[in-house]
Amino acid sequence: MNFGEIAKTELHLHLEGAAPPEFIRRLAAEKRVNMDGVFDENGAYDWATFVEFLATYERACEVLKSPEDFGRLVSAVLEAQAAQGVIYTEHFLAPDFCGGGDLVAWKEYLAAMTEAAEASPVEVRFISTCVRHMGPEQAKITAHVSAETAGGLLTGFGMGGDESQFVAADFAYAFDMAREAGLGLTSHAGEVEGPNSVAETLDALKVSRIGHGVRSVEDADLVARLKDEGVVLEVCPGSNIALGVFPDLKTHSITALREAGVAITVSTDDPPYFHTDMTSEYRNLSETLGWTQADFDAINQTAMRAAFCDDATRSRLLAKFNGA
Ligand code: ADE
Ligand code: ZN
Repeated sequence: MNFGEIAKTELHLHLEGAAPPEFIRRLAAEKRVNMDGVFDENGAYDWATFVEFLATYERACEVLKSPEDFGRLVSAVLEAQAAQGVIYTEHFLAPDFCGGGDLVAWKEYLAAMTEAAEASPVEVRFISTCVRHMGPEQAKITAHVSAETAGGLLTGFGMGGDESQFVAADFAYAFDMAREAGLGLTSHAGEVEGPNSVAETLDALKVSRIGHGVRSVEDADLVARLKDEGVVLEVCPGSNIALGVFPDLKTHSITALREAGVAITVSTDDPPYFHTDMTSEYRNLSETLGWTQADFDAINQTAMRAAFCDDATRSRLLAKFNGA
């Protein structure tokens, strides 16, 4: 199998987290922003724990200042994804890094990112994302600017950040606002925290997808619930292994969850931070777990069914994954 050539969907990718280190270094040099501690001696992003990862990520974001910077980043990330065979993707964008929640500024950032996305051969939708450790009040501001700009390529609302902070119910108001604006909903859960975090997220935020959700495997009742309710997991195996959620792919819960009938998709999360890309993910799934083209078609069909896009786009792209 030529893993690079397999057509792919990628639902779970943080735009800022996909920035190549060279991209951030170049902007830092242009803008004279101090990046001490962000990179290791090999020039890769420097972090060791989940909390350090989030801190390095936010430091790197300090160089992304203007709408033009974000437009350039969308173009660079989409170019890399196209080279990996990605034909449909959704990018998590954090308004907190794009004007700090100011609506006028956010519109300018979103316009620049939309222009870049529309110039790409990859079909793209955006999921605006609140950052959990910034708290529920900031999340409401993020939801408000997202609701005001819903439509066009902005079709989803989500939450990333430190899952150990706050409880899911604290963010119900923000997610209700986004739902009322017609945005599709997803939230990180069951990544660094256990199955309760996933159950609370489903109860309080009523999302159709969960970012990661891989620790759901620790609770058989929750696994049955995910299957019965058709909740789709955005699984990012390389990210989970890099962050120490599982030691390796053999022991990763993706196999048990699939066998239990849970709907699974595969993405990279923040590829340069975790030294991964979509082609490597597919190659590892094939070489370590024996996945075949039929398995890849199945996850991509699941992803397109769960995608936050219009039905015409969904049908057109589903046909590229053996119709379904
Ligand atoms: N933001 C970017 N990547 C993330 C991850 N893996 N978990 C939580 N928040 C994130
Ligand atoms: Zn993520």
